[in-house]
Amino acid sequence: MQLSSPANRSFDVIVVGSGAAGLTAALALAGTHKVAVLAKGTLTGGSTAWAQGGIAAVLDAGDTFEEHVRDTMIAGAGLNRRETVEFVIERAPHAIERLMELGVPFNTEGNALHLTREGGHSHRRIVHVNDATGWAVQEALLRAAQAHPNITLLPGRSCIDLISGRHELRYSGSGRVWGVYALDEATGRVEALTARATILATGGAGRVYQFSTAPRGATGDGIAMAWRAGARVSNMEMMQFHPTCLYNLEIKNFLITEAVRGEGGHLLHPVTGKRFMPDYDERAELAPRDIVARAIDDQIKRYGLDYVHLDISHKPPEFVREHFPTIYEKLLGLGIDMTTQPIPVVPAQHYTCGGVVIDLDGKTDLPGLYAAGECTESGLHGANRLASNSLLECFVFGESSAAHILAHWDEFDEPVPVRPWDASRVTDSDEEVVIKQNWTEIRRFMWNYVGIVRTTKRLERAMHRVRMLNGEVEEYYRHFRVSTDLIELRNLLQTAELIVSSALKRHESRGLHYTLDYPATNQEPLDTVLVP
Ligand code: FAD
Ligand code: SIN
Repeated sequence: MQLSSPANRSFDVIVVGSGAAGLTAALALAGTHKVAVLAKGTLTGGSTAWAQGGIAAVLDAGDTFEEHVRDTMIAGAGLNRRETVEFVIERAPHAIERLMELGVPFNTEGNALHLTREGGHSHRRIVHVNDATGWAVQEALLRAAQAHPNITLLPGRSCIDLISGRHELRYSGSGRVWGVYALDEATGRVEALTARATILATGGAGRVYQFSTAPRGATGDGIAMAWRAGARVSNMEMMQFHPTCLYNLEIKNFLITEAVRGEGGHLLHPVTGKRFMPDYDERAELAPRDIVARAIDDQIKRYGLDYVHLDISHKPPEFVREHFPTIYEKLLGLGIDMTTQPIPVVPAQHYTCGGVVIDLDGKTDLPGLYAAGECTESGLHGANRLASNSLLECFVFGESSAAHILAHWDEFDEPVPVRPWDASRVTDSDEEVVIKQNWTEIRRFMWNYVGIVRTTKRLERAMHRVRMLNGEVEEYYRHFRVSTDLIELRNLLQTAELIVSSALKRHESRGLHYTLDYPATNQEPLDTVLVP
């Protein structure tokens, strides 16, 4: 039963998302301000807890910021904003220090941090906690947030929309965002939570694709909410496919970290056993992700394969077990001993490079609205994210958005009275099947028509389907009580539309956007900016 709550609750700052970006921001604000952190489902349900490889930072004596910047821009096919790349990379060592203070037990070698290597990096520069870095980071941040008296953690809240001018009881014309309408998943009530500032840290939109390494809740909610409220989004066509997701008919989203290739793993044709990456790129298995994913896709299509092999069995068994304990155990449970056998792998959607446009302070176009992490387009990743630059982006923009809010606190007005959620004209759904059907349909056509290799015709087919479903989903949304599934479906469709629109606008192949109709890369790198 869903009710509109009569009482609106207010905080200094609302953070939507309890992953690396959201908790970093909350901890940076909580010294002086009351912060609410909202999450769909559990507090550990985002991508952060699933991260494997690690966090990129220049920490080796032979490495330099300039080289990390260069690697990031080469991977990003020149679409990155250099100012942002420098801003993030220069702050990486501080971010690692801060995480160590919070108790993240990074692997060490002697007195130094152990640095692993991943595709596109010219140096060893990835700090990690075995092959389960994200879980260690999530735990440490959450522990600190739980212990903080100024942080109210609100799991089980699915935000529906941002509260903006049109929700004000008396229209102020300020254009400000005042917080969120959030569904309490346990009671079915929708609460208006208001604040002087709101930070979106809602993660990516990977679940818009049939095969993705991302968790169930990665449905682009923050991107869709910001877009509906009037913020620009950009580079949504730049969807990253990770080359090596486990091929298993039951478990469809288990990642095999890039560090397996970084530590010497080879990609092999599963029948002939031939190593094929040297035929595609001189960096072989350590080429950036877009190149490796396209090469695997090409092998699969050319030879009619279901998967290719990733093989690290030529390394000593104890080396493999020590570096990849989580993956080793998981695969062993599925009957694959990676110390003696190759691993069947396929590419799967992995990361959303585009998102809500932000500046270096995490500011969006809308007064009072900030964003950080995977839901944003900050200029760091350009046309393709360099491995392990993403958690880093979360820490840097979590901090910078909090710092901007603190520095400008006096300019933030008290929230004005806003309308409570109106559920008076909706009823309980009698056809939940509509949600499941549409959800499945979106993910299928996005995989088939808007995947690793695109054509204009396929993109147009996808757009045609988006338009057909738009009416159906919007009608359903207007008539029935909201549920998390319905909120997600609406956002998934909105995100699909943004991805396809962006892809149709880019008349070139660059980084992750590869289209047979425009195979060349234009001289000038230009962002695809969508304006609501
Ligand atoms: P998330 O950690 O995804 O958190 C999103 C939060 O928003 C969640 O709390 C969620 O509940 C909440 N939320 C979403 N929608 C709503 C809503 N409507 N209402 C309320 N709350 C909402 N990156 C690296 O740098 N290194 C790696 O080794 C690495 N490995 C990865 C491995 C895997 C399998 C995956 C999937 C990703 C990996 N990445 C890696 C990417 C990285 O993990 C993510 O980009 C990063 O964790 C995103 O953090 P975030 O804080 O932006 O969002
Ligand atoms: C991986 O471990 O391969 C993922 C790293 C990343 O997504 O940055």
